[in-house]
Amino acid sequence: MGCALHDAFGRQVTYLRLSLTDRCDLRCVYCMQEAMQFLPRRELLSLEEMDRLASAFIARGVRKLRITGGEPLVRKGVIGLFQSLSRHLRSGALDELTLTTNGTQLARHAEALAACGVRRVNVSLDTLDPVRFRALTRRGDLAVVLAGIAAAKAAGLRVKLNAVALRGSTEAEIFDLLGFAAREGHDLSLIETMPLGDTGEDRTAQYLPLDVLRAQIASRLTLRPSAHRSGGPARYAEVQETGQRIGFITPMTEHFCATCNRVRVSCTGMLYPCLGHEGATDLRAALRGSEADAGLQRAIDAGLAAKPAGHESRLMHSAHRRWRGICRRWEGRRDGADWDFNGLRPRGARGLYRFGRAGDCGLADAGDHLAMGAGAADYPGRV
Ligand SMILES: C[S@@+](CC[C@H](N)C(=O)[O-])C[C@H]1O[C@@H](n2cnc3c(N)ncnc32)[C@H](O)[C@@H]1O
Ligand code: SF4
Repeated sequence: MGCALHDAFGRQVTYLRLSLTDRCDLRCVYCMQEAMQFLPRRELLSLEEMDRLASAFIARGVRKLRITGGEPLVRKGVIGLFQSLSRHLRSGALDELTLTTNGTQLARHAEALAACGVRRVNVSLDTLDPVRFRALTRRGDLAVVLAGIAAAKAAGLRVKLNAVALRGSTEAEIFDLLGFAAREGHDLSLIETMPLGDTGEDRTAQYLPLDVLRAQIASRLTLRPSAHRSGGPARYAEVQETGQRIGFITPMTEHFCATCNRVRVSCTGMLYPCLGHEGATDLRAALRGSEADAGLQRAIDAGLAAKPAGHESRLMHSAHRRWRGICRRWEGRRDGADWDFNGLRPRGARGLYRFGRAGDCGLADAGDHLAMGAGAADYPGRV
């Protein structure tokens, strides 16, 4: 192994999330606009470039690789990439190769993924009501996703369901979702919805804080705190009656910066060292600039050196409380560009806030969708 990837604060990076594409066959109301303009294909890394890039990280000590998107399974040739990357599992260089998916293509790919050494898969499932599913995804067929989840289980993949908490919908269905997960033996994580990108929807109507759901669950079931950690941002509780685990992912109010071991690379090859900061390093130029990896490794080091100590959870929390106001203003801005808090800005804060779209940045898993703040340096007057 080459020299391990340490940031300026001594944290070792062992987890890479790699976005294969910004494209998707669904248009979830909290994620994308109905009429999406996707990136021109030439902007995306080729699958060979993705392999080379992931391998460069693995050579530097990355032990867990999560493939995500957009929807990773809509990318042509995706199984070939998994097959190729599985050599790192066989060699022992990688502990885990996994993915986050909407499940629409799982039925046809589950067995091939399992054959590539994938053991676990995160599947997004916000509702078990077919009509609501179509409305939330603006086009999806619930039966197809449920068949995908069943195929994953049949192929021996462990499934974690991710449900974005949405006002009205999740409150009405939380016990159905819990029951489904318990019956099928799947874990379930609930995620607070975040104002990522421009979805063309009224986000104020969508937002549902997780403490509301937690209280709702606790009104009927006994929730015990769980020490379980998945290496991600979820806090777990165990349901005494069923023994199942529920993950609560509250990206606005909590962070785990001190132990952060992860970085993200977008489908265009931008390295994002921290979710709470929009700073990124271009790896594509280095990849395309030379067939040797020396330049690429230098670019990775430069990206890592920019990994900040952490992001401002208290600032985020403050922003969280101002959600409604932000969203109202957000609705006035359709370009997804920098967002000025104006009067809503936390006391002492300067600069702009930018909210990106999850798929753009490969910020693609539970809790990884976040407000990308302009950075601690821009907020000297901590709130
Ligand atoms: C961006 S998707 C990419 C992978 C795949 N297409 C999927 O849906 O699982 C990854 C995760 O981000 C979540 N997500 C997307 N937009 C979000 C938002 N605005 N707030 C919270 N979670 C979001 C999705 O529910 C999904 O679990
Ligand atoms: S959340 Fe996933 S499935 Fe839904 S639109 Fe975004 S990328 Fe597609």
